[in-house]
Amino acid sequence: MAADSLDSLFEVLRREPDVEAPNLQAWDATDRLLLDTAAARIRPGSSVTVIGDRYGALTLGALAVLEPSAVRVHQDLITGERALQRNARRWQAARNTDDGGSRREPAFRQLPLGPELLTDADAVLLQLPKTLAELDETAAAIARHAAPDALLLAGGRVKHMSLGMNSILERHFASVRPQLARQKSRVIEATGPQAAAETSTFPAVVHLSDINLDVAAHGAVFAGPKLDIGTRYLLTFLPRMKPARHAVDLGCGTGILAAMYARQFPQSRVTATDQSAAAAASALATARANGLEGRISVLQDDALSTMADAGADLVLLNPPFHVGAGVHAGAGLKLIEAAGRVLAPGGELWTVYNRHLQYLPSLERAVGPTGVAGNNPKFTVTRSVRRAA
Ligand SMILES: C[S@@+](CC[C@H](N)C(=O)[O-])C[C@H]1O[C@@H](n2cnc3c(N)ncnc32)[C@H](O)[C@@H]1O
Repeated sequence: MAADSLDSLFEVLRREPDVEAPNLQAWDATDRLLLDTAAARIRPGSSVTVIGDRYGALTLGALAVLEPSAVRVHQDLITGERALQRNARRWQAARNTDDGGSRREPAFRQLPLGPELLTDADAVLLQLPKTLAELDETAAAIARHAAPDALLLAGGRVKHMSLGMNSILERHFASVRPQLARQKSRVIEATGPQAAAETSTFPAVVHLSDINLDVAAHGAVFAGPKLDIGTRYLLTFLPRMKPARHAVDLGCGTGILAAMYARQFPQSRVTATDQSAAAAASALATARANGLEGRISVLQDDALSTMADAGADLVLLNPPFHVGAGVHAGAGLKLIEAAGRVLAPGGELWTVYNRHLQYLPSLERAVGPTGVAGNNPKFTVTRSVRRAA
């Protein structure tokens, strides 16, 4: 019965508005293993919190098979939040078509990582994050706020799991028990939250002396409190950039590019934007740590979807090229297209990317005439000028 409802749920799940491709799925074997484990371990009527749900498989799956009293969910990416909302509507429509019913949309609350998400949670389902720092911040929040007898089920693909993850969980829980793997996924059960007395150690703030900047990083943010080598190379071109009325740091991570641009061009207004909540919070903290909060505004958004066309004169971009565990250029191309849309005619896009990537034709098409401003052994930096519409 449970397997039936999960099968029919998983059939309707999509990743959009995230990048879609035949080799990219909206759910994985870990979602199913976590839900099967939870169904065996959690009493009906439990308050369930889901963290790290990619596109809604865990949240909607919990509603489908666990008979919870409430489901709260935190997803770092705004694309994941939007995909969950759309998948909830799809699933409702599919069930109503199947049985001619008039079911309402499944009810869940989407919340930031913190007390509102976790207070009195009986069970937490967690898709293990990529980095130990993100796991540390997440596990600390669970231990601090969830019910004292809460059960944490943390799952991942075996190939992406490490003993370091167990050690991090042991910092925050009295008992940590890895379970047998199934279909290359594994669940770790943790109980006995050990709430640390001290306040959160996130965001970490580190002074980068070579660029004389304080950088703030939450656990989930790209590169942590370090300077990415591609970003470092792009920064060497700052003196050649133009002073913009409105500059955008697109996919800002910790907001290093936004902060360095704002410092170089004191007349410019800067927007730092990223799809990740952790990145947006980190960029805000970086701006504050350097006294730039009045100059930099921060926006959590998917590829500038809420920004007006032609509203910027300069965009800085160090695009992602990893989508999930596979290497996929779609995410980078989506940001190049977004830059083309928000740039006013004559506006500049400065991009840094790995030399082996073939971004030039896309930059020419989506933005306008593009020249290579520089190459080093690993990276290319380009300057594209927005052609008139
Ligand atoms: C290579 S990192 C660069 C981070 C930062 N600019 C730096 O230079 O350190 C790429 C960033 O793009 C963000 N990103 C990826 N897809 C995005 C999207 N669709 N909308 C907004 N940001 C996105 C990622 O979350 C990540 O922070």
